[in-house]
Amino acid sequence: MNDPNGLIWFKGKYYFFHQWNRFDMNHHYKEWGLFTSTNMIDWSNQGSAILPDRKLDRNGVYSGSSIEHNGEMYLFYTGNVKKNGERKSYQCISTSKNGRTFIKEESVIETPAEFTEHHRDPKVWRGENNWWMVVGAQTKERKGAIALYSSCDLLHWKYENILYDQQLDNMCECPDLFSINGETDILLCCPQVRPEIDDDLTGVSSYAAFISGKFDEKTKKFLPKGSLELLDYGFDFYAPQSFSDHKGRRILVGWMSRMSEIEEYLCPTKQYGYLHCLTLPRVVTLKNGKIQQLPIEEVKQLRKRKQKFTSSQGRFELESGRFELELSRKDCSSDFHLFLRDCSVEIHYYGKKNVLSVTRVNWVANKKETKVKQVQSLSQMSIFSDNSSIEIFVNDGECVFSLRYFTEEENLSVKYAGLQQEGELLYFAF
Ligand code: FRU
Repeated sequence: MNDPNGLIWFKGKYYFFHQWNRFDMNHHYKEWGLFTSTNMIDWSNQGSAILPDRKLDRNGVYSGSSIEHNGEMYLFYTGNVKKNGERKSYQCISTSKNGRTFIKEESVIETPAEFTEHHRDPKVWRGENNWWMVVGAQTKERKGAIALYSSCDLLHWKYENILYDQQLDNMCECPDLFSINGETDILLCCPQVRPEIDDDLTGVSSYAAFISGKFDEKTKKFLPKGSLELLDYGFDFYAPQSFSDHKGRRILVGWMSRMSEIEEYLCPTKQYGYLHCLTLPRVVTLKNGKIQQLPIEEVKQLRKRKQKFTSSQGRFELESGRFELELSRKDCSSDFHLFLRDCSVEIHYYGKKNVLSVTRVNWVANKKETKVKQVQSLSQMSIFSDNSSIEIFVNDGECVFSLRYFTEEENLSVKYAGLQQEGELLYFAF
């Protein structure tokens, strides 16, 4: 699997569609798979929702989004077509009244002349007077851009203009735009460097970012405040998508992860018949003007047993690779060290340098690799591990590190150091 698609709360259930190759563990085939849930904890696999079964999408039902209108679900995706090595993209529409039967609509959007056929991943939302759609794009000059469309009925769309095109490398995948508190708009994007030869995947590199600012519905432009920032500081986070649920929360889910070809080929979970996964759903809010991401509160239902550690350093055994750790500290400027599952993942905070680092062992090179972020102080951390994935939320969601890691099942020891007075480390088994 790869990108989360069409995330929505519809008629009493969460629908999480996703890019899926159900035949193999590679990217040669794409359809929309579907999981549903009433609580985002217990999921039911609904199999396939949209298949590449017509001319306009025969080489892949690519990523997109969904929206509810008049009791119907409208799904927007990119139909990918390859003919004699030439790519064509169509933004396609499918509708559903019951969340089980999906009907493909006749109307499609063809790529406007100023763009190449790297035109994909439609995301739709309701504006003041009409519907808006953003599509990830590449200009004929091979510059990344985000294209803006409008519609009054969700079926017929008009190309408006380029919404935004700064710092987007050669292409922009999976754009998304949403408002927090009606004040600040957040533009999500995945800038991508692409080589001239279309399918030379070895030269492709990309990352997930955001920029805050304001979408002006009159000028149809996004006015940025500041510049692009990483949405996640770990090794494995890509193609995030957001939606707003019936509780009014802005929830974000990412794909964990966009590995390199060789990392995918040698990925240890292939022996269990799967490659990738999605992140935990995260709630996005603003705190002092800064974006904050926290796991949905529902994950607390997973907690089974609790242990509390308060001595300045210690060691304990986990019951399994599925666990939560919750760190809180009063002395936020001193060093802190955490070694998970016999050093498969290490987290270090260096108080003097104001640096937080996360290290894992890369399974291709069998060598340690590290990601770092400047962090002014370390007061809190929530860590969620699900056997081969780990998500680290720092200082109540000020920044997040998401990554896959692979270790032996029996490696269950945790070591920590640097817990000062009144600090505590809680361990919850799942
Ligand atoms: C992002 C992406 C999208 C595309 C999909 C194909 O990971 O490349 O741009 O629609 O994956 O699976």
